[in-house]
Amino acid sequence: MAVDLVVSNCTVVTETGRIPDAGVAVEDGTIVAVGRPDRLPAADRRFDADGKLLVPGVVDAHIHNREPGLEYKEDWESATRAAAAGGVTSVVGMPNTDPIVDRPDRLELKLDRGDRSAHVDFGSFVVITSENLGEIPALADAGAVGFKIFLGSTVGDVPAPTDGEILEAMEAVRETGKRLGFHEENGEIIDHYTRRFREAGRNRPIDHSHSRPVIAEREAVERMTTFAEETGASIHMFHVSSGSAAAAVARGKDRGVDVTAETCPHYLWFSEEVIERKGNVARIQPPIRDAEQRRRLWEVGIDGGAIDSIATDHAPHTAEEKGAAEPFGDTWEAAAGFVGLETEVPVMLTFVAEGRLSLEEWVRRHSVEPARIWGLYPQKGSLRIGTDADFTIVDPDHEWTLDASDLHSKHPVTPFEGETFTGKATATVVRGEVVYADGEVRGDPGYGRRLPVARSGDDQ
Ligand code: DOR
Ligand code: ZN
Repeated sequence: MAVDLVVSNCTVVTETGRIPDAGVAVEDGTIVAVGRPDRLPAADRRFDADGKLLVPGVVDAHIHNREPGLEYKEDWESATRAAAAGGVTSVVGMPNTDPIVDRPDRLELKLDRGDRSAHVDFGSFVVITSENLGEIPALADAGAVGFKIFLGSTVGDVPAPTDGEILEAMEAVRETGKRLGFHEENGEIIDHYTRRFREAGRNRPIDHSHSRPVIAEREAVERMTTFAEETGASIHMFHVSSGSAAAAVARGKDRGVDVTAETCPHYLWFSEEVIERKGNVARIQPPIRDAEQRRRLWEVGIDGGAIDSIATDHAPHTAEEKGAAEPFGDTWEAAAGFVGLETEVPVMLTFVAEGRLSLEEWVRRHSVEPARIWGLYPQKGSLRIGTDADFTIVDPDHEWTLDASDLHSKHPVTPFEGETFTGKATATVVRGEVVYADGEVRGDPGYGRRLPVARSGDDQ
């Protein structure tokens, strides 16, 4: 009997190695065989991968999809359209929407919107504030992928809980079996310098960066890893931007703390110099750091292993909110964040082409680990038989220069405009359906499904 789909003519790459001249077979949306063509079954449909590389679908566990409430910036449809076009098969949305995702009914509202319009599989984090500590078990049961606390003020102005409340939250999250991630910037430090700089009339884009110094990030990592050491909670550091913070993560790991960490393509690609060149377009929180911090982020984070995963922090704003027409205008008036879903695979493949990272290490950090960290592995992030047939097919040699107007987000403002990459996603397969190929997003909105989230009581 023929299976539904065979993707043929590719080199299969996983975190442990490569199978040249191979393919994968799919039945009912799951993988039924991986290997040489003569070992694959007959298929109703064939997809010729044109000799490119096939890897487990890329998981981006840090996007701001903006729905509900801020659809003028982005929505599930546009964010997941960009994901499909960028080679990303699963995304996890952040809770700083309107309303914030802090109650089970609000999580359901957000996921219900995704059910209607997502192109790839999706889930959501929920936020913990001083107001909802009692709701942690219910939020886990309602299908949260994980929890988030904002330690310092950022877009959405979600207030930070006190240290005592954070300890309580860690204990409650530990009981759910889930992980608690942090926006790790010490709020008192960044508020202090922001106030000082504004009083002094320092309003250039670089002043914004310097108002959020590395010590704010490092201290937050040190404090949260210390809290987790005491409470036994599993924690995650979102968007680690500096070598100093990566080193603090490494110290936590060395002490046996269950701390995982991600960085974003922009911190590995750019240094602070981009702020002088692109102004508020490159404004993001935490900020892009100086060249020495970037060097140490590579050394300690990537080469040394402190950073487990890659995610974008895809954070769309309108061109007007970004101050894009006048990028060196008053930085305090400009929004922080920019789109990333369609540049993350090219950035990482460019590092592979430059020999800074192996293909296997890329797959580990961009597919395997984000799925593992958030309890989605092996259903997501693997090519194991019986798991979801999510594939990212890439051309690792294609050289191209980004014209941001080709991006699929509602407001494609990005400091990567004009950058040249080696490598690109050529096709995206989600549960056996080709949702992107030949430069076209093909799937129907609403095809994307909720991520297979573990509930309390499940074996973990
Ligand atoms: O630059 C940022 N933008 N940092 C954040 O923490 C939030 C994000 C956003 O939502 O725009
Ligand atoms: Zn974010």
